[in-house]
Amino acid sequence: MTTTPALQSPFQRLTKLIEGIAPGAPPIDLGVGEPRHPMPAFVGPVLAENLAGFGRYPAIKGTPAFRSSVAGWLDRRFGLDGFIDPETGIVPLNGSREGLFFAALGARQFSAKQPERPAVLLPNPFYFAYAAGAEAAGAEAVMLAAAPGQALPDLDALDPALVARTIALYFASPANPDGAVAGAADWAKLIAWARAHDIYVFADECYSEIYREAAGAPAGALAAAKASGTAEKVIVFNSLSKRSNLAGLRCGFAAGDPAFLARWLNLRNIAAPQVPTPVQAVGSAAFADETHVAENRRLYDAKFALADRLLSPAFGKVVPDGGFFLWLDVARFGGGEAAALKLWREAGVRAVPGGYLAATGPDGTNPATNHLRLALVDAPDVTEAALTRLAETFV
Ligand SMILES: Cc1ncc(COP(=O)(O)O)c(C=O)c1O
Repeated sequence: MTTTPALQSPFQRLTKLIEGIAPGAPPIDLGVGEPRHPMPAFVGPVLAENLAGFGRYPAIKGTPAFRSSVAGWLDRRFGLDGFIDPETGIVPLNGSREGLFFAALGARQFSAKQPERPAVLLPNPFYFAYAAGAEAAGAEAVMLAAAPGQALPDLDALDPALVARTIALYFASPANPDGAVAGAADWAKLIAWARAHDIYVFADECYSEIYREAAGAPAGALAAAKASGTAEKVIVFNSLSKRSNLAGLRCGFAAGDPAFLARWLNLRNIAAPQVPTPVQAVGSAAFADETHVAENRRLYDAKFALADRLLSPAFGKVVPDGGFFLWLDVARFGGGEAAALKLWREAGVRAVPGGYLAATGPDGTNPATNHLRLALVDAPDVTEAALTRLAETFV
């Protein structure tokens, strides 16, 4: 267990690491997880049709059309059958990041628990917005490593005093960086445990549509909530950034517990950015269409098949069930930093040392120090060139 968030941007740290070192080949950036597949063809026309909306302040609650498009998608994707009411159960976001950050502020204000030093539980490695939110809310961010071979941390082993002051828990599936996917039973267990201790579950599902077809579609937190009969204490975050290659559109949503969302809307109405209505119009169209999402998955599947062919001789199993990152154990190349340097110096490929994505504990250990993260977000030909260089560098 670790309570020291490392909030320095991993990308800035990487830039510093390779500063002044000439790349061994024309650079290819596998650092940032920004999808570079084509965006759907309808984005331009829908935006053009809705341009007038830029002249008005949008409502924080979003348009009825956006909320019902999201609710329809949730129903189809997770078999929710109307479990989420578009009127009370969905809030539009400017991408999931700001929502994940704001969620901690909500938990701090709305939790019945008001300990002197509230805690927020995070996975480790973790997405930095969780820790930034916890910090802004005046809570202690406590990082938990996953139990060996499990998607979940060992919740039953946690110190009861920590659990008593915990107000929220973040959990991502598929996870960034390792692509681990929680099953329906994992979600059910997590939610039941959290409710038993009056803890909000913030489920980060922004990679939910990026999965290997062979592994199947990841389960979701809302389906587990539905099975329990209530959305109480469960809030899911998702966006079009990865699903629809629209990272720059800044369009996502939070869905779940109506009691939390009602109070959160009041907070957001004062402090959060609204989502422009033309952006919501594009979002409505995107959540109504699966063709481009399936094509997106096909591209990722092909790239991971290539990664498997080129890298499994040196690394064994490299293909994750979900997400678009390769998460390589590079211990025998000196760990993440040494491997990132070698890859840049010899092959011109930029990749993030795993340790930059995780917190180092008070004992100086970092659970990701031996890993390297590579985002397979480029067009197939660029990815193939990068993977070929990787295979030549790490033999
Ligand atoms: C784990 C995780 N959560 C959330 C986000 C935020 O994405 P967005 O704000 O574009 O929805 C990212 C982006 O890379 C991410 O990796």
